[in-house]
Amino acid sequence: MDLTDLDLFADGFPHPLFDELRGGPVVWHEPTEHTPGGEGFWVVTRYADVLAAASDPAVFSSAGGGGRAGGGTLIEDLPAGFAAGVLLNMMDAPRHTRFRRLLAPCLSPRALHALRDDLQARADGIVRAAVAKGECDLLVDVAAELPLQAVAHLLGVPQEDRHRLLAWANTTLDHADRDLGESTERTRAAAAEMSAYGTALLARKRADPGDDLLSVAVHGTVDGGPLTELEQQMLFHLLIAAGSETTRNTFALGVQALIDHPSAWHALKADPSLLPSAIEEILRWTSTTPYNRRTVTRPTTLNGAALSPGDKITLWWASANRDPSVFPAPHTFDITRTPNPHLAFGRGPHFCLGAPLARLELHALLTSFLTHITALTPTAPPTFTRTNKHTGLRHMPVLLTPTGPGRA
Ligand code: HEM
Repeated sequence: MDLTDLDLFADGFPHPLFDELRGGPVVWHEPTEHTPGGEGFWVVTRYADVLAAASDPAVFSSAGGGGRAGGGTLIEDLPAGFAAGVLLNMMDAPRHTRFRRLLAPCLSPRALHALRDDLQARADGIVRAAVAKGECDLLVDVAAELPLQAVAHLLGVPQEDRHRLLAWANTTLDHADRDLGESTERTRAAAAEMSAYGTALLARKRADPGDDLLSVAVHGTVDGGPLTELEQQMLFHLLIAAGSETTRNTFALGVQALIDHPSAWHALKADPSLLPSAIEEILRWTSTTPYNRRTVTRPTTLNGAALSPGDKITLWWASANRDPSVFPAPHTFDITRTPNPHLAFGRGPHFCLGAPLARLELHALLTSFLTHITALTPTAPPTFTRTNKHTGLRHMPVLLTPTGPGRA
């Protein structure tokens, strides 16, 4: 087993391997030639164990600890004070709680309610344009567009800049030609351009605030003072990446699941009231954030494994979401599955802040699909991203057959 060999993830998430791992305890992953820092880490695959660790942030830190110099939520250590402890998702309480509280109102279901009609109109426009093309790249033409437009709106980024931001985010997230923890000239250049863009954008928000999340971030206070410039900059990077990458992957792989399970597609077409449970099943099935890491802060045990301060420990949401002790027939795609307590958005204090937005985007896009499309036919196999950090696609060529007169 080598969970740091990205070739293992080149065709999607390796479920058979995780089925085997779930049969055993929390396991220690020895380092391999691909493992960043040359050190091992714990692998947590069962639902109950993932839930227990995610719910105990004092022992399982998102920032770091236990004497370790770096930290964060990736297998590779990120520098403390630069990413770990500075990015919202790589912080611990109490600052994390207050930072999150500052932003939460911008992403609450109430705030998003006002966006609902706008998102549906955008989704309809995107899907109609793709249908007009006939054969399209579902990932690029449809799945990427709505989350990108939505996050640009949310952050107050001019819509005409969104494709540049997406290209930089793709480059920094892709691992087509590198191992975990490695950077290339291309990834460093993209990160630098994104930072320069973020610096200028944040300066504009400081001077001329708008009605958007970044304006709230630069003018709000946490612990009696403003967020540091680095915290603001990192928040911009986090939201562009989190807002654009995960939802597009979930939508595209969800459509793939509907192509692979025509009876589910027909059931949804016949009864759109199944949409909410279908969306939860798509989230469980696709689990596009496969894992997040924590750092052990004090001696403890987890399902019999003795963990030491400073140990890295990885929580595999995608594996927990196929645990047969919680999900009967976990490898069956069942759009009527209830209850469906999946962990696709994580759990505990770092539960995805964008979950209501992601659900709304998925609802809008699928509603447009059910209205405007009668059949989906792949014209070439999809291309997956080669990484263990996101399960996703870069291309998905399909032929969209429009709903028309006389068609169901
Ligand atoms: C289907 C789409 C999405 C999935 C599967 C997903 C998944 C996740 C997961 C698993 C976490 C927990 C990380 C951890 O515990 O270490 C998380 C956190 C987060 N997500 Fe999402 N996400 C999605 C969409 C979004 C969107 C659209 C946004 C923003 C526009 C967003 C913003 C965030 C933020 C800010 C956090 C950190 C919250 C915190 O640390 O308090 N996500 N997401």
